[in-house]
Amino acid sequence: MMKVFVTGGTGFLGNHLVKKLLKEGYEVKTLVRSISKAKEILGSTDAIFVQGDMANVDAFADELRDCELLFHTAAYFRESFLYGSHWEELERINITNTLKLFEYAKKYNIQRIFHTSSNNTIQKRKDNKPSTELDVKKLEHAKTLYAKSKIIGDRLITDFSKQHSIPVITFLPGWMMGPVDAGPTTGGRYILDYLNKQIPGNVNGSIDIVDVRDVADAIVSAVTKVKQTDRFLVTGNHFHLRELSKHLEKASGIPSPKLTIPKPVAFTLAWLIDRMAAITKKEMSISVNGVHEVSEGRVCSNAKAIHELAITFRPLHVTLHDSVNWYKEHRSELLTVPISPQPEKQSS
Ligand SMILES: NC(=O)c1ccc[n+]([C@@H]2O[C@H](COP(=O)([O-])OP(=O)(O)OC[C@H]3O[C@@H](n4cnc5c(N)ncnc54)[C@H](OP(=O)(O)O)[C@@H]3O)[C@@H](O)[C@H]2O)c1
Repeated sequence: MMKVFVTGGTGFLGNHLVKKLLKEGYEVKTLVRSISKAKEILGSTDAIFVQGDMANVDAFADELRDCELLFHTAAYFRESFLYGSHWEELERINITNTLKLFEYAKKYNIQRIFHTSSNNTIQKRKDNKPSTELDVKKLEHAKTLYAKSKIIGDRLITDFSKQHSIPVITFLPGWMMGPVDAGPTTGGRYILDYLNKQIPGNVNGSIDIVDVRDVADAIVSAVTKVKQTDRFLVTGNHFHLRELSKHLEKASGIPSPKLTIPKPVAFTLAWLIDRMAAITKKEMSISVNGVHEVSEGRVCSNAKAIHELAITFRPLHVTLHDSVNWYKEHRSELLTVPISPQPEKQSS
């Protein structure tokens, strides 16, 4: 049985990845910051919990010694929620210490590294065709510090992989949604805001949305199919926020907002919310970063992942149905409005 190490086991992607790897028969060790959180998120599991922090890689790196593969999903990902510059943490966790972890992986003879980056690192094409793994965003075009950290990290990881002859397979997910988003991440937060009727209108923008379980499936599929350094967009399908609302209406029974918010208005509102958050120090739902993301209208191609990893993508209504139900069953304290999903129409 192959022994593997997964960082971010309590995270949205990490918990699905750990479960999928266990199901496929791998022996899993996973890095978690909190054992009690790990027990809550992963339930009774055969995974071995390694308590540690990416802020201090030296303290837990020895645990890689008996593993053959490394899956890195842990990242600093809170920039969209709390106002202020998060560069110090973004640089430390997503760049410097990620590379340090990979250096340990090399030292302990890990055979391959499966790394999670983001489609935030991908540029919209001028010819409006779907962007591919080759359309890497120039650093000066990164709209957020998070994107900047991922672009710089990916560059250094490519150099590292070449220099040390260790394959690094990088995944570039779209906006992930689905069940067991305990954070919650930005996707889960958007769903919760929708359910609590906190979304006054649909920003006139669009984005690639992918089921987190499909990303986990893609990563596990790559273990048997990809032996060399490579990159895979796993971004699901592209939706206008109006369509997302319609699907959420069906999943929850809560009517979708009728109003379309033009981008300049959305930016102004988000800017004001950012300023308020700076004063109150509270987490914010809508941020300038988020509006940037949906404004770009970048569509990514999953063709390579579909072809080479033999994966499929769940329909959005399935993803949202499972996501809404998870919040209803496991985080009902976060919901203020009763949910009554609309029954699926029977096809004739
Ligand atoms: N969610 C998306 O829409 C999306 C889209 C594209 C790419 N990504 C990327 O996908 C990966 C997984 O993100 P996610 O959505 O699963 O986010 P998440 O739910 O916030 O998970 C992040 C994980 O990283 C862990 N972590 C953060 N800082 C850490 C530290 N200093 N030491 C150890 N662990 C730490 C967190 O631990 P705690 O549970 O203790 O907080 C959590 O387990 C990240 O690389 C992210 O950038 C996400």
